[in-house]
Amino acid sequence: MTATWRDTAVTQLLGVRLPIIAAPMAGGPSTPALVAAVSEAGGLGVLGCGYDSPDRIRAAIAEVRRLTDKPFGVNLFVPTPVEIDDTAVAAALAALEPFAAAYDLDIALTPPFAEDFDAQLEVILDERVDMFSFTFGVPSYNALAALRGAGIAVCGTATSLAEAVALQQTGGVDAVCLQGTEAGGHRGGFIGAPEDSLVGIETLVSEVRSAVDLPLIAAGGIMDGRGIAAALVGGADAAQLGTAFLRCPEAGTSAPYRAALETARDTDTVITKAFSGRAARGVRNALSEALADVPVPPYPVMNALTRELRRRAAAAGDSSVLSLWAGHGVAAGRALPALKLVITLASETDVAFTRTHGEGR
Ligand SMILES: Cc1cc2nc3c(=O)[nH]c(=O)nc-3n(C[C@H](O)[C@H](O)[C@H](O)COP(=O)(O)O)c2cc1C
Repeated sequence: MTATWRDTAVTQLLGVRLPIIAAPMAGGPSTPALVAAVSEAGGLGVLGCGYDSPDRIRAAIAEVRRLTDKPFGVNLFVPTPVEIDDTAVAAALAALEPFAAAYDLDIALTPPFAEDFDAQLEVILDERVDMFSFTFGVPSYNALAALRGAGIAVCGTATSLAEAVALQQTGGVDAVCLQGTEAGGHRGGFIGAPEDSLVGIETLVSEVRSAVDLPLIAAGGIMDGRGIAAALVGGADAAQLGTAFLRCPEAGTSAPYRAALETARDTDTVITKAFSGRAARGVRNALSEALADVPVPPYPVMNALTRELRRRAAAAGDSSVLSLWAGHGVAAGRALPALKLVITLASETDVAFTRTHGEGR
């Protein structure tokens, strides 16, 4: 592979110069400024809008378009059934009590627990963004067909071979994003328990490449050009990086979250359901430790239970009860402006290919 590492099935699908995608990061980090800077640099920025109301999504899309005319994407969470398990809610409330007391907070379970997915999707369709990616499940065939009919490139998330094959079988996706166990943030799986679908990214890319014809995007623990080159050589057509962008000044990462990322080591992350009820990888802290063995209610109920606590902790600069999503590569994070980070990643990838093949750009 030579100059051509930049030219892949994914860059052709998305109309971008580099097979480098800044992961959607819902809950604040992937701001319009971050998304626009990555797209301006030749990669693809993706807004993480899973928690956002339709109006907020529309405003974020408008803001990206004000900042760049380059392609960008939007990502949503496919809804999972809401089950209110009173025993689990009581167990979670009891475990959260000491943390809530520190903030003088009476935790109450107040619906709605999540945004209306169909209304969110309407905005994506209406705005005809360049790329739509989804996680936690699979939208209906009709929804996928409508998106593609509107000229939107559609990308699903898989954490196992079975999920990648299932996405291909829908006949409604243009690309598959493979999420390895190394990945920061929520596990995107939808077959079996997400916390049991923990395959390393190298294995996942290789096995899916042999079975699926769609363009593949590799995600999980990729922090530099060596990681991007390894993913491409392994069979992926692009790399998606989340944790690597969290310390960019444009990211909406809160101050206590940034401070925790600066000192975290590779062994400091854990997969936990303590914050949202859905398995996710983040830097271990007091809340993830205290709730490690508590049978908390599933997403989105647990997410709603901890929401106000997390909001207050962020305002108080307290990282001990915040969800500090980060992947295995967290210690290699760099506090660079996003445009500079993408340019650096591209030149590191050139070097990686030169070193391994005696060829580069
Ligand atoms: C803070 C954070 C938030 C995330 N939010 C989302 C999201 O909203 N939607 C999504 O599909 N993936 C989300 N992810 C997962 C990423 O898409 C990707 O799988 C992951 O960042 C790759 O691993 P890395 O963080 O080691 O690069 C998030 C990851 C992080 C770190």
